[in-house]
This record gives sequence, C-alpha cells and structure tokens, in this order.
Amino acid sequence: MNKTICLALTGASGMPYGLRLLECLLAAGCQVQLLYSQAAQIVARQEMDFELPSRPAEAKAALLARLPATVDPEKLAVFGREEWFAPVASGSNPPDAMVVCPCSMGTLAAIAQGLADKLIERAADVVLKEGRKLILVPRETPLSAIHLENMLRLARAGAVILPPSPGFYHHPQSVDDIVDFVVARILDQLAVPHTLMQRWGE
Ligand SMILES: Cc1cc2nc3c(=O)[nH]c(=O)nc-3n(C[C@H](O)[C@H](O)[C@H](O)COP(=O)(O)O)c2cc1C
Repeated sequence: MNKTICLALTGASGMPYGLRLLECLLAAGCQVQLLYSQAAQIVARQEMDFELPSRPAEAKAALLARLPATVDPEKLAVFGREEWFAPVASGSNPPDAMVVCPCSMGTLAAIAQGLADKLIERAADVVLKEGRKLILVPRETPLSAIHLENMLRLARAGAVILPPSPGFYHHPQSVDDIVDFVVARILDQLAVPHTLMQRWGE
C-alpha cells in the first residue's frame, strides 16, 4: 500500500484509538506522518502510561518501541508542533488523507475556523483546501451547540466526522475489540485493507 497518511493525535480521550490506528496503518505499509499536540502527550500518559517525548526524534523512538518489530521505521515520520518545513505544511505536498484521532473539541474548533497556528491545524487546512480526505474522530459528551455547529461546518467543508461510537452487535469481548471496531471504520474510510473484524453479512 503506497498511501501517505497524516495522523494527528490531540488531547481528547481515546488515545488507544490513535495508537492502534498508527499500528494498523504501518502494518498495511502506509507511509505515516505523525503529528501530536502537547495535550496529546498528557492524555497518552494518563490513559496508557505512555510517555510521548516532546522532541519528535525521541517520540519516534518511543512509538517504534511500542510497535511490532516488523514495522519499517522508514515508514514513520514524526513532526514537531511548529515544524513548518514538514511536507504537510504545504499544499504542494499534501498527504493522501489526514486523520485527527482522537480529536479534541479545541482542535476541531480551530480547524473549523481555518486557524493555522499549529502544524496540526495547518495540515488539516491544507488537506481541506487540496480536496483530500480529512477524517476527524471527535470525542466529547454531551455535545454543545458550539461543538455541533463546528462539526456541521466541517462536514459541509468536506470533512468526515467519525465519532468513536462502537457498535455492540459483534459481541465485543474486550476493550481491544471495541477499539478495533472504531479503527476498522477509520481504515474503511481510508480504503486501507484490514482484517480487524468480520464484515456484516459475511
Ligand atoms: C486526561 C484528559 C482528557 C481529556 N479529554 C478530552 C476530551 O475527551 N475531549 C476534549 O475535547 N478535550 C479533552 N481534554 C481537554 C483537552 O486536552 C484540552 O482542551 C486541550 O487544550 C486540547 O488541546 P489540543 O487540541 O491542542 O490537543 C482532556 C484533557 C485531559 C488532560
């Protein structure tokens, strides 16, 4: 699979979705450009006891240490918050698609307003303007009218709003099964093959 996917981890609850998605993208042979916010580092520590270092090179090493040894390190590029020379910063070199997973309401609002102060927001802005697929996995509950308006605005701009809403009709036996349900939906949107779960009707 020769796709380039930009994956942004932000500070919403749901870091297991983001890290499982990273693993599946790399297992499928995708080139992954990984971005992460400061709040994502806090959530990774809180939810997964995972220290995601601030320096991108150290973050790459920490991520690779968690991933299966079969992963090709060359397929993972990690960029800092204001690394404006990263390919994702320019419409001249956009990824095939971008996923923000998990996506905080803060980052969702920034993207909805076209802000580009941070590389994550700028990359999303670029993906939208270049007509590539932008998938947001927002997590909050309940949702205010502001959250809903931002989501509607983004959906109208072409983004896919994919809340982590697992179904239970496949009888999940573990948290991992629930995580995989959501990750499978994201991979389907990206047209990245997977065998995470049986398809309905098969
Ligand atoms: C453990 C933890 C869980 C959080 N969960 C959420 C959440 O589910 N949704 C959300 O929108 N913000 C959540 N937040 C708040 C965001 O991290 C905060 O608004 C932050 O500024 C978002 O920054 P970012 O968008 O740059 O990652 C959480 C924060 C922490 C520390």
